Amino acid sequence: MNNNILSLKKNSFNIESQKSFYIEKLSLKNFRNHENLNLNLENTSILIYGGNGCGKTNILEAISLLSQGKGLRKANIENFLKHEDTLNSEYKAWGINVDFVGPNGRFNIGTGLKNTSSKKSRIARVNSDYTSLSSLGKILNISWISPQMCVLFLSSMSEKRRFIDRLTFSIDNLHLNRVYRYEKLFRQRNKILMQSSFDHTWLNTIETQISQLSIAITARRLDLIEELDNLYKKELKNNSLTEHFPSVGIMIKGKVENLLIDKPAAEVEDYIKLELKKSRSNYDVFIPGPNNASIEIFNKKNNKNLDISSTGEQKLLLISIILSHARLLHNKFNMAPILLLDDIIEHLDKKYRFALFLEISRHPAQSWFSSTSKDAFSQFPSFIEKINLPKIKESFNGNYHFRNGDI
Ligand SMILES: Nc1ncnc2c1ncn2[C@@H]1O[C@H](COP(=O)(O)OP(=O)(O)O)[C@@H](O)[C@H]1O
Ligand SMILES: [Mg+2]
Repeated sequence: MNNNILSLKKNSFNIESQKSFYIEKLSLKNFRNHENLNLNLENTSILIYGGNGCGKTNILEAISLLSQGKGLRKANIENFLKHEDTLNSEYKAWGINVDFVGPNGRFNIGTGLKNTSSKKSRIARVNSDYTSLSSLGKILNISWISPQMCVLFLSSMSEKRRFIDRLTFSIDNLHLNRVYRYEKLFRQRNKILMQSSFDHTWLNTIETQISQLSIAITARRLDLIEELDNLYKKELKNNSLTEHFPSVGIMIKGKVENLLIDKPAAEVEDYIKLELKKSRSNYDVFIPGPNNASIEIFNKKNNKNLDISSTGEQKLLLISIILSHARLLHNKFNMAPILLLDDIIEHLDKKYRFALFLEISRHPAQSWFSSTSKDAFSQFPSFIEKINLPKIKESFNGNYHFRNGDI
């Protein structure tokens, strides 16, 4: 592939500057290094650029929090409040507020700290009504790629599982709730087991719920992987743009996954319950379930596993998964996700940069890039609004109005 071929192909694809799903207004208050930031945007792709540490990733992270979970940095809630305010004993709240526009209209969505309870947690509001974080997924979807993702991927299997769980959440909004509940039940069970004598009926109830959730979580993950696989086989196979990113295979292996192939769910559930019972008195017993599943991600063309791929190859696999998952959501729910692409350009060579630019140009939802410079984006094949973050903080008091170009 060279750029000439790509520029020829470019004409045969629907390059669309105007996005059907976009953030029209973003306001951050006391969020990390942004005391007051207001961006007024339009339905185009966005580039936030500026030197290291000016707060680009913080903006992307804020957007990622318009979804259930800990966001793009997997941060704890205490870290979000702007430091000076934490140091001043005076209490200030932090918050994120957006106007999101999609085919179903305009929604004002906010999230911030719930300060009434002793346990710190996040709350969400849609058009001034309180709502659960999980139900935000019915209004908008958000996906991201960050430089830390590959590093985390290699370091632990649990990170791979979390990644798959986040992708699964987009096709079933209750999935993360199930995962959190599963973990909570395990903690409760461990507490009970540490007591010298325990209530067997209560333990039975907890273990029944754990077994049911094991099946539900595993089944939803397998559904996602099957849907992605079908997409690669049917649609993306003949797509001359996506072929530049590798076709990715994902496999989940584990006892429960194996059993579900040819046994009814009820039978597998009973098996898990039995194993849980056995492990009550013996901590060494392996407990089959979603937290013991192993996930393999590989390039379908050469069967090379993500774990033994180069950093560059890993990035391509990751991009491929996120782009195909975005396509899946659009096909399935007519709901393309907002894409957050943190520092991604720096890690791609020229041809892959351009391939990514083309994919993003025809993605029906707004994408947000962050980069230290805007230079590479002169190649962007459709319109992209380029925002110089340090400049709007210094010269415009943190208030930005769409410029139709860049500042
Ligand atoms: N809670 C916080 N309060 C104030 N500043 C913070 C907070 N958390 C992070 N920062 C600052 O934000 C900056 C990093 O922002 P980041 O968005 O990662 O920059 P970049 O533009 O390089 O992506 C650092 O200077 C860091 O000290
Ligand atoms: Mg950054």
